[in-house]
Amino acid sequence: MAASPESLWYKDAIIYQLHVRTFCDSNGDGIGDFPGLMQKLDYLQELGVNVIWLLPFFPSPLRDDGYDISDYTAVHPSYGLLEDFKAFLAAAHDRGMRIIIELVLNHTSDQHSWFQESRSSRENPKRDWYVWSETDDHHKGVRIIFVDTEMSNWAWDPLSKSYYWHRFFSHQPDLNYDNPAVFEAMWNVMKFWLEMGVDGFRLDAVPYLVEREGTSCENLPETHAIIRELRKRVDQEYPGKMLLAEANQWPSDVCLYFGEADEFHMAFHFPLMPRMFMSVQLEDRKPIVEILEQTPQIPDSCQWCLFLRNHDELTLEMVTDIERDYMYDEYAKDKGMRLNLGIRRRLSPMMDNDRWRIHGMGDNVYLGDRNGVRTPMQWNGGWNAGFSGADPERLYSPLISNPVYGYQAINVESQRRSQHSLLSWMKRIIHVRKSSRVLSRGSIEFLKPSNHRVLAYVRQLGEEKILVVNNLSKSAQAVELDLRKYKGSIPIEMFGGNLFPRIGDLYYLLTLGPYQFFWFRLRRI
Ligand code: GLC
Ligand code: CA
Repeated sequence: MAASPESLWYKDAIIYQLHVRTFCDSNGDGIGDFPGLMQKLDYLQELGVNVIWLLPFFPSPLRDDGYDISDYTAVHPSYGLLEDFKAFLAAAHDRGMRIIIELVLNHTSDQHSWFQESRSSRENPKRDWYVWSETDDHHKGVRIIFVDTEMSNWAWDPLSKSYYWHRFFSHQPDLNYDNPAVFEAMWNVMKFWLEMGVDGFRLDAVPYLVEREGTSCENLPETHAIIRELRKRVDQEYPGKMLLAEANQWPSDVCLYFGEADEFHMAFHFPLMPRMFMSVQLEDRKPIVEILEQTPQIPDSCQWCLFLRNHDELTLEMVTDIERDYMYDEYAKDKGMRLNLGIRRRLSPMMDNDRWRIHGMGDNVYLGDRNGVRTPMQWNGGWNAGFSGADPERLYSPLISNPVYGYQAINVESQRRSQHSLLSWMKRIIHVRKSSRVLSRGSIEFLKPSNHRVLAYVRQLGEEKILVVNNLSKSAQAVELDLRKYKGSIPIEMFGGNLFPRIGDLYYLLTLGPYQFFWFRLRRI
């Protein structure tokens, strides 16, 4: 199906990931909710984001912060009513923002009625909705993802006296996609939310949908076939909606999830993420350039979703053992900061609160699992940081309150008052980023100056060209760029609009302060 320009909205989107429970509590029970979130839409609009990605907000025992769903077509009572969600959706749409929600396809909570029925007896019609076995010997070589909590991908069910398959926590049994009824049930879930008007889904844990003996049980052709069928139905019945893949895999495997533009519209670039951290720590562009050069071309209508952090540990699955050790040594010296194959910290503390590397909210590594990066939003320096009117003991999570990252020091209200705060700077960079599609849609060509502490590339879309130069090091650097191809053009710095010297026959000399970067439009004037 030929895509209309409007249906390609996701290609330039700036997506803000958000958990309703962490954002704003409207009724004083210590838990963020939809009416609270609605009050904060102005803030998000002001920031310039155009898409909100909501973490799971469905009924759930919350043993995996909502990724353990017990009912797919309702709202968790702590977060409000379905009507509140609808009101929020309408208010976001009124502002021209789109909403994407989570679709946890691979597994449910063990509290879901499907599983309750399935385990109730071997004759139950839903028995075959999950992956049952008499023994735990099948799929022996399949890796365990939550290595810190799980010993096996099989769990014993004392009720029906058999084992069930789970790739995540043992309270999250995997659904059986060999049963077409499961697929139809999930399609009904999608239709429920699409009918209501959501703009897309982040599909959780997609590589693991189907199991086959003797394989890694990841990225199987059968799994791709399921995605293709979902995509076909979405395109036919709800054109313009977007599917985003969480497939934590090497570039060549993730790429398969774009198919021939007939699977996902977008996928997270998991391999690039840790390499950005490595490049900054090593003061060397190599990890970034190498992984991007290994990343195959993707179909025109598809897009990578780039990110630094999210609600999970910073996963180090898509790196070598040596790279992982390096990351642990540099960013998680304390073993308590590590979880599974990753690092459970926020961005700022990892960057040692260096403004030029990036600063923002702190984390609390003393909270279990990944909760240390899911603490309440810090709106102001007052009661509970403006997040909730509840007694502080009642909050779903303690606030960050240390002198460096605590809400008295870091909050929206104080940052709004300064033009030079991180918040104001974020607004500006989002604004500049939105001023050109080159940064989202253009081709990329790396320049390879001899100073490897500098990452430089040119992006091009049609006649429009943008030169990006980043100093990855903590000290000043000079760089000589071979820009002879662009001879005669004038670099125009995009934040201030100032003209730099015209590009001539010589190497182009730039000097950059610590962690400084430039975005230049290259114009022939
Ligand atoms: C995804 C989510 C993670 C969750 C897991 C199991 O990886 O990002 O938070 O624990 O799936 O649903
Ligand atoms: Ca509440």
